Amino acid sequence: MKIAVMGYGTIGSGVVEVLEVNKDLIAERAGEPVEVKYILDLRDFPGDPYEKCIVHDYQTIVNDPEIGIVVEAMGGVEPAYTFVKAMLLAGKQVTTSNKNLVAEKGAELIAIARERNLNFMFGASVGGGIPIIRPLNTCLTADEIEEITGILNGTTNYMLTRMANEGVSFEDVLKDAQAKGYAEADPTADVEGIDPCRKIAILTSLVCGKQVNYEDIYTEGITKITSEDFAYANKMKRSIKLLASSKQAGDKYACMVAPFMLAKSHPLCNVNDVFNSVFVRGNMLGDAMFYGSGAGKLPTASAVVADIVDMVKHNNINVFIDWSPEKMELVDYKENVNSFFVRTTSEKAEVEAAFGAVEYVEGVVEGEIGFVTNAMTEADFAEKVEKVQCISRIRLA
Ligand code: HSE
Repeated sequence: MKIAVMGYGTIGSGVVEVLEVNKDLIAERAGEPVEVKYILDLRDFPGDPYEKCIVHDYQTIVNDPEIGIVVEAMGGVEPAYTFVKAMLLAGKQVTTSNKNLVAEKGAELIAIARERNLNFMFGASVGGGIPIIRPLNTCLTADEIEEITGILNGTTNYMLTRMANEGVSFEDVLKDAQAKGYAEADPTADVEGIDPCRKIAILTSLVCGKQVNYEDIYTEGITKITSEDFAYANKMKRSIKLLASSKQAGDKYACMVAPFMLAKSHPLCNVNDVFNSVFVRGNMLGDAMFYGSGAGKLPTASAVVADIVDMVKHNNINVFIDWSPEKMELVDYKENVNSFFVRTTSEKAEVEAAFGAVEYVEGVVEGEIGFVTNAMTEADFAEKVEKVQCISRIRLA
């Protein structure tokens, strides 16, 4: 099998490395050797062992009938979409690690692959090296999936863990995450929660079989989380995690991405550093958990190469993925029910006038108090919180 890799950055070079280091066992598992013939990139790589494979025009790959599989590791929607579509139309199978592409164009690319008896796979697009896409598509198929809740962003989990344990500043820990290759080139998507939002949209699309638009999902990032919030979390014996969740609600789904304060008993409470974890609840299965390396060069490349092996084994056989372009309606997030931790400078009488009985957390920061509300809808909370001086609030899980 001769393949091409589009994008020779962190993930693309990781794919080449995995194929090189584990060459023999990959050949054995795939049933034939897998050889990199082209690497598409705008840059040249003088002195690189794969220097001679570098090409600058994607048409070189499109027009070479020897290429059976193409890896897309460029990131972003364009030109990745144009290139991937051209590869599928030319009869080549494609695997991508690019969640932006999958979240926006997944349904269409899956349909093109199916019409041509090819495969468009995206196992590395959610959860880095953790197998979650393939289990949802081929293992957990006997169940109605009632809930998926995950820590789906390695960068922010790494940042929150270090902020919690070492009191490192947001800026310093972000620079470190970028240096380690976890964060996107533009970290906005990580810290504002857009990256896990795209990932939960992909997972929800896979379980409901319809298109979930990530723009429809209410999303908050971690930029407003402070060391004072961690001081309260420590006192409450909770951790702060950025959760992406999707819950079945009748024939709709309630999705949300936001930081939550997790009780020690929560299954995701102790998922730390760059690790990701996904909790899945099925109506027959009950609960299942997936855990592992959620970002970074080799874990992500490992998932891409696993797709390559699967595609070699399914040459000319489409592995059906149930994800149509029909849009899935989401529940208005204002109807989501949560309890909230609130920091306030208001007196207890004002707090209780607004919220009724609450549980106080005191003696953490001078001049303010914290309190935990009962469970209520987002709409209800928004109305009540107007009646107190709110410094910040975090949902509880
Ligand atoms: N920036 C992403 C993360 C990369 O930190 O999870 C993996 O998708």
